[in-house]
Amino acid sequence: MADGPDGSLELAARPRDAELEALEVELLLEAIYRRYSFDFREYAVGSLRRRLWRRVQEEGLETISALQDRVLHDPSAMDRLLRDLSVNVTSMFRDPTFYRSFRDNVVPHLRTYPFIRIWNAGCSTGEETYSVAIVLHEAGLLERVRLYGTDVNARVVQRARAGTLPGERLESYDEAYRQAGGTAGLLDYFDTDRDGCTLRPELARNIVFAQHNLVSDRSFNEFHVVMCRNVMIYFGRTLQDRVHSLLHESLANFGVLALGRKESIRFTRHERCYEDLDGREKLYRKVC
Ligand SMILES: C[S@@+](CC[C@H](N)C(=O)[O-])C[C@H]1O[C@@H](n2cnc3c(N)ncnc32)[C@H](O)[C@@H]1O
Repeated sequence: MADGPDGSLELAARPRDAELEALEVELLLEAIYRRYSFDFREYAVGSLRRRLWRRVQEEGLETISALQDRVLHDPSAMDRLLRDLSVNVTSMFRDPTFYRSFRDNVVPHLRTYPFIRIWNAGCSTGEETYSVAIVLHEAGLLERVRLYGTDVNARVVQRARAGTLPGERLESYDEAYRQAGGTAGLLDYFDTDRDGCTLRPELARNIVFAQHNLVSDRSFNEFHVVMCRNVMIYFGRTLQDRVHSLLHESLANFGVLALGRKESIRFTRHERCYEDLDGREKLYRKVC
Protein backbone atom coordinates (compact mmCIF):
# COMPACT_ATOMS: atom_id res chain seq x y z
CA MET A 1 0.00 0.00 0.00
CA ALA A 2 1.44 3.41 -0.96
CA ASP A 3 0.48 7.02 -1.55
CA GLY A 4 0.45 7.86 -5.24
CA PRO A 5 1.84 11.21 -6.48
CA ASP A 6 -1.62 12.81 -6.33
CA GLY A 7 -2.24 11.49 -2.85
CA SER A 8 -4.25 8.53 -4.11
CA LEU A 9 -3.74 5.20 -2.42
CA GLU A 10 -2.83 1.97 -4.10
CA LEU A 11 -4.08 -0.88 -1.96
CA ALA A 12 -3.70 -4.55 -2.76
CA ALA A 13 -7.08 -5.88 -3.84
CA ARG A 14 -8.68 -8.14 -1.28
CA PRO A 15 -11.84 -10.12 -1.70
CA ARG A 16 -14.80 -8.52 0.06
CA ASP A 17 -18.54 -8.81 0.11
CA ALA A 18 -19.22 -5.64 -1.89
CA GLU A 19 -22.80 -5.18 -0.75
CA LEU A 20 -21.94 -5.60 2.92
CA GLU A 21 -18.96 -3.29 2.55
CA ALA A 22 -21.12 -0.61 0.90
CA LEU A 23 -23.55 -0.85 3.83
CA GLU A 24 -20.76 -0.60 6.40
CA VAL A 25 -19.26 2.44 4.64
CA GLU A 26 -22.65 4.15 4.52
CA LEU A 27 -23.27 3.50 8.22
CA LEU A 28 -19.81 4.68 9.20
CA LEU A 29 -20.15 7.96 7.24
CA GLU A 30 -23.59 8.55 8.71
CA ALA A 31 -22.21 7.89 12.21
CA ILE A 32 -19.30 10.29 11.65
CA TYR A 33 -21.70 12.95 10.43
CA ARG A 34 -24.08 12.56 13.37
CA ARG A 35 -21.43 12.31 16.06
CA TYR A 36 -18.78 14.74 14.75
CA SER A 37 -20.57 16.80 12.01
CA PHE A 38 -17.96 15.96 9.36
CA ASP A 39 -19.88 15.16 6.20
CA PHE A 40 -18.15 12.68 3.88
CA ARG A 41 -21.43 11.07 2.80
CA GLU A 42 -21.24 12.28 -0.78
CA TYR A 43 -17.51 12.01 -1.36
CA ALA A 44 -16.38 9.80 -4.28
CA VAL A 45 -16.57 6.24 -3.02
CA GLY A 46 -13.48 4.63 -4.59
CA SER A 47 -10.85 6.83 -2.97
CA LEU A 48 -12.79 7.02 0.31
CA ARG A 49 -13.03 3.23 0.57
CA ARG A 50 -9.28 2.74 0.09
CA ARG A 51 -8.58 5.27 2.81
CA LEU A 52 -11.03 3.63 5.21
CA TRP A 53 -9.39 0.26 4.69
CA ARG A 54 -6.00 1.75 5.36
CA ARG A 55 -7.26 3.07 8.71
CA VAL A 56 -8.88 -0.32 9.47
CA GLN A 57 -5.49 -1.98 8.97
CA GLU A 58 -3.49 0.61 10.86
CA GLU A 59 -5.85 0.41 13.84
CA GLY A 60 -5.34 -3.40 13.86
CA LEU A 61 -9.02 -4.00 13.06
CA GLU A 62 -10.79 -6.38 10.71
CA THR A 63 -13.85 -4.56 9.41
CA ILE A 64 -15.24 -1.12 8.64
CA SER A 65 -17.92 -1.73 11.29
CA ALA A 66 -15.15 -2.21 13.84
CA LEU A 67 -13.71 1.12 12.72
CA GLN A 68 -17.11 2.71 13.27
CA ASP A 69 -17.17 1.37 16.81
CA ARG A 70 -13.68 2.77 17.45
CA VAL A 71 -14.22 6.26 16.05
CA LEU A 72 -17.52 6.63 17.88
CA HIS A 73 -15.93 5.84 21.24
CA ASP A 74 -12.46 7.28 20.74
CA PRO A 75 -12.18 10.86 19.36
CA SER A 76 -8.44 10.40 18.81
CA ALA A 77 -9.25 7.58 16.36
CA MET A 78 -11.58 10.01 14.60
CA ASP A 79 -8.71 12.46 14.42
CA ARG A 80 -6.47 9.84 12.81
CA LEU A 81 -9.19 8.92 10.34
CA LEU A 82 -9.75 12.59 9.45
CA ARG A 83 -6.11 12.89 8.52
CA ASP A 84 -6.46 9.87 6.22
CA LEU A 85 -9.61 11.19 4.59
CA SER A 86 -8.26 14.62 3.91
CA VAL A 87 -5.87 14.74 0.93
CA ASN A 88 -3.79 17.87 1.38
CA VAL A 89 -1.27 17.46 -1.43
CA THR A 90 -0.31 20.88 -2.77
CA SER A 91 2.70 22.85 -3.94
CA MET A 92 3.82 26.32 -5.00
CA PHE A 93 2.96 27.07 -8.64
CA ARG A 94 1.41 23.63 -9.08
CA ASP A 95 0.78 23.24 -12.83
CA PRO A 96 3.00 26.22 -13.83
CA THR A 97 1.16 26.77 -17.14
CA PHE A 98 -1.98 27.54 -15.14
CA TYR A 99 -0.19 30.53 -13.57
CA ARG A 100 1.12 31.66 -16.98
CA SER A 101 -2.43 31.68 -18.22
CA PHE A 102 -3.60 33.45 -15.05
CA ARG A 103 -1.03 36.21 -15.74
CA ASP A 104 -2.09 36.49 -19.41
CA ASN A 105 -5.85 36.04 -19.18
CA VAL A 106 -7.02 36.91 -15.67
CA VAL A 107 -4.69 39.71 -14.56
CA PRO A 108 -5.71 42.14 -17.38
CA HIS A 109 -9.35 41.60 -16.44
CA LEU A 110 -8.60 42.25 -12.76
CA ARG A 111 -6.88 45.55 -13.60
CA THR A 112 -10.30 46.98 -14.44
CA TYR A 113 -11.46 46.75 -10.79
CA PRO A 114 -10.58 49.27 -8.08
CA PHE A 115 -10.80 46.56 -5.41
CA ILE A 116 -10.46 42.83 -6.02
CA ARG A 117 -11.72 39.90 -3.92
CA ILE A 118 -10.35 36.41 -4.57
CA TRP A 119 -11.41 33.18 -2.88
CA ASN A 120 -9.05 30.21 -2.87
CA ALA A 121 -11.35 27.41 -1.66
CA GLY A 122 -9.61 24.21 -0.51
CA CYS A 123 -6.27 26.01 -0.15
CA SER A 124 -4.63 23.28 1.97
CA THR A 125 -1.37 24.52 3.57
CA GLY A 126 -1.43 27.79 1.62
CA GLU A 127 1.09 27.29 -1.19
CA GLU A 128 -1.56 27.92 -3.85
CA THR A 129 -2.67 31.15 -2.15
CA TYR A 130 0.93 32.36 -1.77
CA SER A 131 1.50 31.62 -5.49
CA VAL A 132 -1.46 33.78 -6.56
CA ALA A 133 -0.33 36.53 -4.16
CA ILE A 134 3.11 36.53 -5.82
CA VAL A 135 1.61 36.74 -9.33
CA LEU A 136 -0.61 39.64 -8.24
CA HIS A 137 2.28 41.37 -6.51
CA GLU A 138 4.38 41.11 -9.68
CA ALA A 139 1.46 42.54 -11.65
CA GLY A 140 1.31 45.50 -9.23
CA LEU A 141 -2.19 44.55 -8.10
CA LEU A 142 -1.75 42.99 -4.68
CA GLU A 143 -2.31 46.29 -2.87
CA ARG A 144 -5.94 46.30 -4.04
CA VAL A 145 -6.59 42.62 -3.47
CA ARG A 146 -8.11 40.76 -0.54
CA LEU A 147 -7.27 37.09 -0.90
CA TYR A 148 -9.24 34.55 1.15
CA GLY A 149 -7.73 31.08 1.57
CA THR A 150 -10.12 28.56 3.13
CA ASP A 151 -10.07 24.86 3.88
CA VAL A 152 -12.22 22.43 5.84
CA ASN A 153 -9.19 21.13 7.71
CA ALA A 154 -8.26 23.35 10.67
CA ARG A 155 -4.77 21.87 10.88
CA VAL A 156 -3.81 22.94 7.34
CA VAL A 157 -5.40 26.37 7.80
CA GLN A 158 -3.17 26.88 10.81
CA ARG A 159 -0.10 25.93 8.76
CA ALA A 160 -1.21 28.22 5.91
CA ARG A 161 -1.45 31.11 8.36
CA ALA A 162 2.11 30.53 9.53
CA GLY A 163 3.28 31.23 5.96
CA THR A 164 6.24 28.87 6.08
CA LEU A 165 7.58 26.58 3.37
CA PRO A 166 9.31 23.23 3.86
CA GLY A 167 13.03 23.77 3.13
CA GLU A 168 13.41 20.54 1.19
CA ARG A 169 10.94 21.65 -1.46
CA LEU A 170 12.39 25.09 -2.17
CA GLU A 171 14.38 24.04 -5.21
CA SER A 172 11.43 22.43 -6.99
CA TYR A 173 9.21 25.38 -5.99
CA ASP A 174 11.71 27.83 -7.48
CA GLU A 175 11.77 25.81 -10.71
CA ALA A 176 7.95 25.82 -10.88
CA TYR A 177 7.91 29.58 -10.21
CA ARG A 178 10.19 30.17 -13.22
CA GLN A 179 8.14 27.85 -15.43
CA ALA A 180 5.10 29.88 -14.36
CA GLY A 181 6.70 32.99 -15.84
CA GLY A 182 8.37 34.32 -12.67
CA THR A 183 11.38 36.50 -13.37
CA ALA A 184 12.68 37.19 -9.86
CA GLY A 185 13.69 34.41 -7.47
CA LEU A 186 11.06 32.74 -5.33
CA LEU A 187 13.14 33.35 -2.22
CA ASP A 188 12.86 37.10 -2.80
CA TYR A 189 9.34 36.74 -1.39
CA PHE A 190 10.30 34.85 1.76
CA ASP A 191 12.30 35.69 4.86
CA THR A 192 14.76 32.92 5.51
CA ASP A 193 16.16 31.73 8.81
CA ARG A 194 17.46 28.48 10.32
CA ASP A 195 13.97 26.95 10.57
CA GLY A 196 12.89 27.59 7.00
CA CYS A 197 11.36 30.50 5.17
CA THR A 198 8.29 32.59 5.82
CA LEU A 199 6.17 34.63 3.40
CA ARG A 200 7.17 38.30 3.67
CA PRO A 201 4.69 40.51 5.54
CA GLU A 202 4.02 42.73 2.50
CA LEU A 203 2.68 39.65 0.67
CA ALA A 204 0.93 38.09 3.66
CA ARG A 205 -0.95 41.17 4.83
CA ASN A 206 -3.69 41.00 2.19
CA ILE A 207 -4.37 37.32 2.79
CA VAL A 208 -6.95 35.96 5.23
CA PHE A 209 -6.92 32.24 6.03
CA ALA A 210 -10.02 30.68 7.60
CA GLN A 211 -11.78 27.39 8.07
CA HIS A 212 -14.71 26.87 5.67
CA ASN A 213 -16.51 23.70 4.66
CA LEU A 214 -17.71 23.65 1.06
CA VAL A 215 -20.18 20.89 1.93
CA SER A 216 -22.01 22.59 4.78
CA ASP A 217 -21.05 26.30 4.92
CA ARG A 218 -22.55 29.11 2.88
CA SER A 219 -21.05 31.68 0.59
CA PHE A 220 -19.47 34.53 2.55
CA ASN A 221 -18.87 37.23 -0.08
CA GLU A 222 -18.95 38.03 -3.78
CA PHE A 223 -15.65 37.44 -5.54
CA HIS A 224 -13.96 38.41 -8.79
CA VAL A 225 -12.04 35.12 -8.86
CA VAL A 226 -12.87 31.80 -7.21
CA MET A 227 -10.18 29.13 -7.33
CA CYS A 228 -11.21 25.65 -6.30
CA ARG A 229 -8.55 23.37 -7.69
CA ASN A 230 -8.12 19.66 -7.03
CA VAL A 231 -10.86 19.62 -4.40
CA MET A 232 -13.96 18.37 -6.21
CA ILE A 233 -12.16 15.35 -7.68
CA TYR A 234 -12.80 13.77 -4.29
CA PHE A 235 -16.54 14.53 -4.37
CA GLY A 236 -19.37 12.47 -5.83
CA ARG A 237 -21.47 13.92 -8.66
CA THR A 238 -24.32 15.30 -6.55
CA LEU A 239 -21.94 17.00 -4.17
CA GLN A 240 -19.95 18.46 -7.08
CA ASP A 241 -23.17 20.01 -8.38
CA ARG A 242 -23.95 21.48 -4.97
CA VAL A 243 -20.49 22.94 -4.59
CA HIS A 244 -20.66 24.36 -8.13
CA SER A 245 -23.86 26.14 -7.11
CA LEU A 246 -22.05 27.64 -4.12
CA LEU A 247 -19.10 28.78 -6.26
CA HIS A 248 -21.40 30.20 -8.95
CA GLU A 249 -23.38 32.10 -6.34
CA SER A 250 -20.12 33.45 -4.90
CA LEU A 251 -18.86 34.86 -8.21
CA ALA A 252 -19.57 38.36 -9.48
CA ASN A 253 -20.83 38.66 -13.06
CA PHE A 254 -17.86 38.09 -15.41
CA GLY A 255 -15.94 36.69 -12.46
CA VAL A 256 -13.41 33.93 -13.11
CA LEU A 257 -13.66 30.34 -11.93
CA ALA A 258 -10.44 28.28 -11.79
CA LEU A 259 -10.60 24.50 -11.51
CA GLY A 260 -7.89 21.85 -11.33
CA ARG A 261 -6.26 20.01 -14.24
CA LYS A 262 -8.46 16.95 -13.91
CA GLU A 263 -11.64 18.94 -13.29
CA SER A 264 -14.01 20.65 -15.70
CA ILE A 265 -17.18 22.68 -15.81
CA ARG A 266 -18.29 20.47 -18.73
CA PHE A 267 -21.25 18.19 -18.04
CA THR A 268 -22.10 19.97 -14.79
CA ARG A 269 -25.39 21.73 -14.23
CA HIS A 270 -23.61 25.09 -14.49
CA GLU A 271 -21.84 24.46 -17.78
CA ARG A 272 -23.91 27.04 -19.64
CA CYS A 273 -23.22 29.75 -17.06
CA TYR A 274 -19.57 29.98 -18.09
CA GLU A 275 -17.49 30.57 -21.19
CA ASP A 276 -13.91 29.42 -21.64
CA LEU A 277 -11.21 31.90 -20.77
CA ASP A 278 -8.62 29.17 -21.23
CA GLY A 279 -10.30 25.77 -21.45
CA ARG A 280 -7.00 23.89 -21.27
CA GLU A 281 -6.06 25.54 -17.96
CA LYS A 282 -9.64 25.25 -16.66
CA LEU A 283 -10.20 28.98 -16.42
CA TYR A 284 -13.80 30.02 -17.03
CA ARG A 285 -15.68 33.32 -17.02
CA LYS A 286 -19.16 33.56 -15.51
CA VAL A 287 -21.58 34.85 -18.12
CA CYS A 288 -24.98 34.28 -16.54
C1 LIG B 1 -5.58 18.00 -2.89
S1 LIG B 1 -5.79 19.41 -1.88
C2 LIG B 1 -5.69 20.69 -3.10
C3 LIG B 1 -5.01 21.92 -2.55
C4 LIG B 1 -4.85 23.06 -3.57
N1 LIG B 1 -6.12 23.57 -3.99
C5 LIG B 1 -4.05 22.62 -4.76
O1 LIG B 1 -4.60 22.37 -5.83
O2 LIG B 1 -2.82 22.49 -4.62
C6 LIG B 1 -7.54 19.35 -1.52
C7 LIG B 1 -7.93 20.24 -0.35
O3 LIG B 1 -9.35 20.32 -0.31
C8 LIG B 1 -9.73 20.35 1.04
N2 LIG B 1 -11.13 19.93 1.17
C9 LIG B 1 -11.66 18.69 1.08
N3 LIG B 1 -12.98 18.70 1.35
C10 LIG B 1 -13.29 20.01 1.59
C11 LIG B 1 -14.48 20.68 1.95
N4 LIG B 1 -15.61 20.01 2.11
N5 LIG B 1 -14.44 22.02 2.14
C12 LIG B 1 -13.29 22.71 1.99
N6 LIG B 1 -12.12 22.13 1.68
C13 LIG B 1 -12.11 20.80 1.48
C14 LIG B 1 -8.79 19.37 1.71
O4 LIG B 1 -8.72 19.58 3.11
C15 LIG B 1 -7.48 19.68 0.98
O5 LIG B 1 -6.70 20.61 1.68
